[in-house]
Amino acid sequence: MAEVSFKHVKKVYPNNEKKSRKKRGDAEKSTPANVTDEGVLVVRDFNLDIADREFIVLVGPSGCGKSTTLRMIAGLEDITDGEITIDGTVVNDVAPKDRDIAMVFQSYALYPHMTVYENMAFPLKLRKLPKDQIDAKVREAAETLGITEYLDRKPKALSGGQRQRVAIGRAIVREPKVLLMDEPLSNLDAKLRNQMRAEIIKLRQKIDTTFIYVTHDQTEAMTLGDRIVIMKDGIAQQIGTPHQVFDNPANIFVAGFIGVPQMNFFDADLVRTGDSYVVRLGGFEVAPSEEKQANLRAHGIKSQKITLGVRPEHITLAPGETSCLEGTVDVSEMMGSSVHLHMTSLGQDVIAVVNTMDATDPTFADRHNVGERVEYAFTGNAIHLFDKETGTNLEF
Ligand SMILES: Nc1ncnc2c1ncn2[C@@H]1O[C@H](COP(=O)(O)OP(=O)(O)OP(=O)(O)O)[C@@H](O)[C@H]1O
Ligand SMILES: [Mg+2]
Repeated sequence: MAEVSFKHVKKVYPNNEKKSRKKRGDAEKSTPANVTDEGVLVVRDFNLDIADREFIVLVGPSGCGKSTTLRMIAGLEDITDGEITIDGTVVNDVAPKDRDIAMVFQSYALYPHMTVYENMAFPLKLRKLPKDQIDAKVREAAETLGITEYLDRKPKALSGGQRQRVAIGRAIVREPKVLLMDEPLSNLDAKLRNQMRAEIIKLRQKIDTTFIYVTHDQTEAMTLGDRIVIMKDGIAQQIGTPHQVFDNPANIFVAGFIGVPQMNFFDADLVRTGDSYVVRLGGFEVAPSEEKQANLRAHGIKSQKITLGVRPEHITLAPGETSCLEGTVDVSEMMGSSVHLHMTSLGQDVIAVVNTMDATDPTFADRHNVGERVEYAFTGNAIHLFDKETGTNLEF
């Protein structure tokens, strides 16, 4: 149990590449954007207050700085600037073993020559706990994770999911204040990953620990996190509940990263007349909801070209509506309870998720032929308006 807080945390790695390139006499290659005179800037001005027992997920594409952030909490990586506090104590200079934190890695990192029992008992032995206490704690954790029957096996005789359970077991036996997990499920196949995801949700209810979980998988982030931190290029793009980031993405990056299939983006015109707005694209006109209108007014947004975002789930097929858009079906993917309809419309790809469960819906159709022309529309509640240049949400 612990509160964890980041204040203006920054991480710069020394830029060794430049020197070795010079040594080799290589021609100056174009330097990546995060390479500055200071070094490689991988986390910038990171601010976050994590509540006691909260489940925080850091999510973002490869290289965005997730593991580095986690490793700074664990003390495996120096903090270049700023402060990390655990329960109000600055831990920048506290040794990893004194931080009362446990970490689970993608690669399990189990000791191959030890049994499951010995692996789990190891951190407690290091602490010189009496044997009977160690035994009680190992058995309790094994019970929690459903691995009691494997206690005498060596890791190599376990499946990936079982190994990861042991790794989690080894982390929780010592009841750490904070449990850090770095992509713990990404070595598992899809089915096992879903199963383990549910296990982690259950585990979370059983133990009194603050969770900080790293993944590049938006589904894991959405299902596990009380709050999600979406990162890109070392910068937190948005911090919020799964609902907040899904319904009100702060910018195009977040909008595109969260949600499957991905949000559709269109070039559109936002037109302001007096105090009211409409969005126009390809002869289709839609008025933003009252709430959106108020937000736009509050920010003094003027008529301008925008990037319009519409989630595939919010597109409805609208045969015969007076105002609608047209598309041609390229691919129709039957997903079970819905069809993912890939269309070409307005000279670009557009994806719609069509519900196949409600046959009483007049627009119901579970089959669309390739090349078929369809009409579609969406409402003013479901649109997202982004600045064409910066990509930021105009309502923010
Ligand atoms: N020791 C190092 N020296 C220099 N640069 C480093 C070092 N370690 C990591 N980096 C760089 O820091 C950036 C962030 O790395 P990090 O491992 O935190 O990313 P990540 O978000 O965890 O990515 P992934 O999803 O691939 O695990 C990357 O661009 C990486 O190349
Ligand atoms: Mg990583």
